[in-house]
Amino acid sequence: MRIGELDIERPVILAPMEDVTDRSFRKICRRFGADIVYTEFISSEALRRGIDKIVRKMLLDESERPAVIQLFGDSAEAMAEAAVIAAEAGPAYIDLNFGCPVKKVAGRGAGAALLKEPEKMARIAEAVVRAVDLPVTVKTRLGWDRESINILDIVPRLEDAGIGALAVHGRTRSEMYRGIADWDWIARVKERAVVPVIANGDIWTAHDALEMFRHTGADGVMIGRGAIGNPFLFTQVRDLLHEGAVKSTPGFRERIAVAIEHLRLSVEYKGEKSGTLEMRRHYATYLKGMPRVSRVRNRLVREDDWRAAIEILEAYESECEVYEREGKIGEYAEFLNDHSRRLVLK
Ligand SMILES: Cc1cc2nc3c(=O)[nH]c(=O)nc-3n(C[C@H](O)[C@H](O)[C@H](O)COP(=O)(O)O)c2cc1C
Repeated sequence: MRIGELDIERPVILAPMEDVTDRSFRKICRRFGADIVYTEFISSEALRRGIDKIVRKMLLDESERPAVIQLFGDSAEAMAEAAVIAAEAGPAYIDLNFGCPVKKVAGRGAGAALLKEPEKMARIAEAVVRAVDLPVTVKTRLGWDRESINILDIVPRLEDAGIGALAVHGRTRSEMYRGIADWDWIARVKERAVVPVIANGDIWTAHDALEMFRHTGADGVMIGRGAIGNPFLFTQVRDLLHEGAVKSTPGFRERIAVAIEHLRLSVEYKGEKSGTLEMRRHYATYLKGMPRVSRVRNRLVREDDWRAAIEILEAYESECEVYEREGKIGEYAEFLNDHSRRLVLK
């Protein structure tokens, strides 16, 4: 897949996720093999006003590149101005969010609301393309609801506006995150599009990613929820795509070690207080399915002191070693392997 100077064969991409894909998580996902990572969405209005908390969301580490900055907004002027500011942070490209379904975004005419205004969507894209030298891409959904799917009408408009690639989440705005992403529609988008297409929605395992490539013919795939607490998925997808088999399943030691690394990075980048608090939402997924974990999880999500949180995690690792000697860990590994699209389907 070629976008500007980036040229990566069948890239596996970390999706933008608010409150999840911050610098610490992006860095970890890159280390585990994500080819490209996206920032959380960034408000163009807040960026152009220079709001410190928002500007910090754009800081990119060398080790996480190629990284992409995603912007949202409902005004071509604000989006173009924000893109010029974002370009200074040196992203590989700038992505425009035309798919966010949540009220605070879509309710204000931005994100998925622009699916109801394809002309305005294209005007915004064109303004941003003109404003920056970097490639500009779009991430969107199939349409506002099932009755008004208009992605095939939107594709040529965005291409005329000059976008460099299109990421499509195979759901409509009304579907939010319900049901199963419609990969057939993504295949239709791929047939229609001239620019590279990045397929997104319900990749939970390495086999899902392979199937997404096969089913849609997309140039790249993008993983969101499946990567939360599970950056190991990127290594598994890479191994399956390039070497034909998934080679490793993380055990409890690796999961706990990465949770600790994540916490340390979070504290380094956000300070002790925010870094510790914001890490709370990740523990459940890192420790998912592990033996007798609810007690540990409950302590972690109440812990204000990051050093104490690390002690809890280390003590739990020792506890798991006992379960391992007793032969109880296997049940957990099985659970992780079963976390697939096919199970979600049932
Ligand atoms: C917690 C969360 C936050 C998200 N934030 C964003 C965002 O900031 N920008 C965006 O384009 N999509 C966002 N999304 C949507 C994801 O990028 C992705 O399109 C969606 O989760 C479907 O992919 P998945 O099935 O692999 O999770 C978010 C999703 C989740 C679950």
